[in-house]
Amino acid sequence: NDYDLLVVGSANADLVIGVERRPDAGETVLGSDLVVHPGGKGANQAVAAARLGARTALLARVGDDAHGRLLLDSQREAGVDTVGVLVGGAPTGVALITVDPSGDNSIVVSPGANGRLTPDDVRAAGSLFHAARVVSTQLEIPLETVVEVARSLAPDSRFVLNPSPPRPLPGEVLAACDPLIVNEHEAKVILGEAARAGEEPEDWARLLLAKGPRSVVVTLGGEGALVASSDGVLRIPSVKVRAVDTTGAGDSFTAALAWRLGLGESLAEAAAYAARVGAATVTREGAQVSFPTAGEVAAL
Ligand code: RIB
Ligand code: NA
Repeated sequence: NDYDLLVVGSANADLVIGVERRPDAGETVLGSDLVVHPGGKGANQAVAAARLGARTALLARVGDDAHGRLLLDSQREAGVDTVGVLVGGAPTGVALITVDPSGDNSIVVSPGANGRLTPDDVRAAGSLFHAARVVSTQLEIPLETVVEVARSLAPDSRFVLNPSPPRPLPGEVLAACDPLIVNEHEAKVILGEAARAGEEPEDWARLLLAKGPRSVVVTLGGEGALVASSDGVLRIPSVKVRAVDTTGAGDSFTAALAWRLGLGESLAEAAAYAARVGAATVTREGAQVSFPTAGEVAAL
């Protein structure tokens, strides 16, 4: 295979402001100076994997504008193959992000060009799919495009999905996931009514498995993660760090996990490595700019 990982997904310019607290409806608060960072869950996954040493390609769409160039530069600098990055059709996606003193964020995304990444774009990128060991995606692109990704997988390649932001998923997509990676909020949205049958992350993992994925990972923030498959359910501890900015931690976790699975590690081994990558990510500001190298993960 030419690529350890093919990421299909979004690319956003992240407009970030630090706040003491978030405004209520009708309220104005003052925040820090604006910082513009390259982000977007797809672009983040690609940069995270490449920075760790994975041979990575990105299939995405950006606008023909300054934000699009910021995103392309960031991918190239990390060593991502951008042959699959399409340009034009709408402005580059934008994420308005506020970060509070505890490092937690809230995000509003304007999909822009991400919303114009079509099933046809996926079909036209068949050679990338055939060259990839693992394919990963998220839900900041149209659902019909995600469905087409699940249909375009080469027979020997593995599919990893982080359904963020979450919405109910067709059975066809769920059945292709190995694993489906969710946090607690995403687990509840994907499960819908069925979530009431469980109270613990272990319950949600089992309920999600019953919906068709070959494996499931539930991320638990600072508490690590939980992996579930036909082999059972296992807790994966995290490394304790001081959180400065959690933005992108889910993305670097997913990318690291996908890459390590492609190298032949077990789900538990790959998740333990990914938890360290996620932990390193929260110790620095920003998304892509905060992702660690393999050396930094080893030193943690
Ligand atoms: O997961 C973090 C990302 O979510 C940010 O980079 C922002 O662009 C939003 O897509
Ligand atoms: Na970060």
